Amino acid sequence: MKRNDFLKTLGLGTAGVLVGESLLSGCMNHDMAAMDMVTAPTVVEGAFTTILPIPETITSGTTLNARSQNAAIVAGKAGQVLGYKNGILGPIFRVQRGSTVTIPFTNGLSEETNIHWHGLLVPANMDGHPIQMVMAGQSFNYTFKIDQAANMAWYHPHPHEKTGKQVFMGLAGMFIVESPEEKALNLPSGTYELPLVIQDKRLDTNGAVMYSPTLEEVMIGYMGETITVNGVNAPFQNVTTRTYRLRIVNGSNGRIYSLALSNGNSFMVIGSDGGLLAAPETVTSLLLAPGERADLLVDFSKIALNSDVFLQSNSFSGVSSQGSQSFKIMKFTVNKAETDTFKMPTLLNSFTSLSAAAATKTRTFDIGVMMEMGSGGHGGTMAMKGMHTINGKIFSIDRIDESVALNSTEIWEFDNTNGDEPHPMHLHGTFFQVANRTGGRGNTLPHEKGLKDTVLVMPGEKVRIIVKFEHTGKFVFHCHNLEHEDDGMMLNFEVK
Ligand code: C2O
Ligand code: CU
Ligand code: CU
Repeated sequence: MKRNDFLKTLGLGTAGVLVGESLLSGCMNHDMAAMDMVTAPTVVEGAFTTILPIPETITSGTTLNARSQNAAIVAGKAGQVLGYKNGILGPIFRVQRGSTVTIPFTNGLSEETNIHWHGLLVPANMDGHPIQMVMAGQSFNYTFKIDQAANMAWYHPHPHEKTGKQVFMGLAGMFIVESPEEKALNLPSGTYELPLVIQDKRLDTNGAVMYSPTLEEVMIGYMGETITVNGVNAPFQNVTTRTYRLRIVNGSNGRIYSLALSNGNSFMVIGSDGGLLAAPETVTSLLLAPGERADLLVDFSKIALNSDVFLQSNSFSGVSSQGSQSFKIMKFTVNKAETDTFKMPTLLNSFTSLSAAAATKTRTFDIGVMMEMGSGGHGGTMAMKGMHTINGKIFSIDRIDESVALNSTEIWEFDNTNGDEPHPMHLHGTFFQVANRTGGRGNTLPHEKGLKDTVLVMPGEKVRIIVKFEHTGKFVFHCHNLEHEDDGMMLNFEVK
């Protein structure tokens, strides 16, 4: 069932859900179905005057403690949030490939949680599968060896049906893997490397994060009006006239950003989820869905000294529920002249491409069908769970949906041909390559040329990935729109 039909079934006009009856008369002649369903991000007075916070950098052995605390997302208003150490979010891990990491974790919440290491190839029993919960007040030692190329991963909770709430409230952090190969490239580092977690938040009048999705927000994803970077709304960063490395994770529940510079300048994509691309790609915008990462190089020497440029999200098409607004995310002020010592390497990474010809099996996943209300065992007046499915199934924690042979290469096809919501599809326990995309945007995009763990499948699209399964155990794959995931759009696969 399409979303608009669904809302009609609920007895709600599409516009009525959004704007309330009092506003309806003014827009009666407009196409209600096409009306944007997402409130525009708001920028408060005095925005872009808070200095960009860079989370503390930590390494193995540092304790994480998920707990409630106060943080000022908007300047001057310290409201209740969740975080892993001090304030909202968590510290940044920076670890060397080959090292073994131990992370003592304590659950200081009043409900179960766990940690999933999104973009790290860790053993299945350390991966934060929804079956591996840490109960309220309990502790668990995460320990694993970092055995993969340099990349930027991130970490967040993964409790079934509560991931959306816990991430939105502030539980997420970055995890950077470094390697000698990457060091040898002399990419911008130190103060020239900026890790940026981009999220949207909804705040109450006291500045506390609110999470209470309506049925419609379960449909489209829960979105907030306050756009944050590293936990604060509308920050700024002073930069010099040289190249910077921006390492971005879209840690939002449902919001997709079309990242661009406000002056329209191009920038370089050098990496994605699984690490560096083979060679840099020049773009003027990049669509980044929840769960995806982008490793970018921005040359601020092209900006006049003492002027500003914003990182913003451009409007984009292809989905009716979001994308019609453009908004600013953060400000860069070029305040100092400096000679750029950076030289772009011609070869960034020499990972071995997976070949579709090596695939021994193709699995097709229909992600474009919405469960009819009252069907699929969800009788009653309103289906509160299971509106989003994969092949008509909703998540069942113990059921193995797909059995995969260790070391096999397969094609997985995510088919959103009949869907009208975007679905960023994510696999645990492996990276993959995007083989092709048909329908919709019709192409593999520049940032999809490297190794990925999350791929955006827009309405009307079919995306085929090539994936080799080299780690044994039981993992999940799911839509990284966290409301969709919590609604059941997740299955188990077992590699053995
Ligand atoms: Cu970041 Cu299973 O997800
Ligand atoms: Cu993951
Ligand atoms: Cu989805």
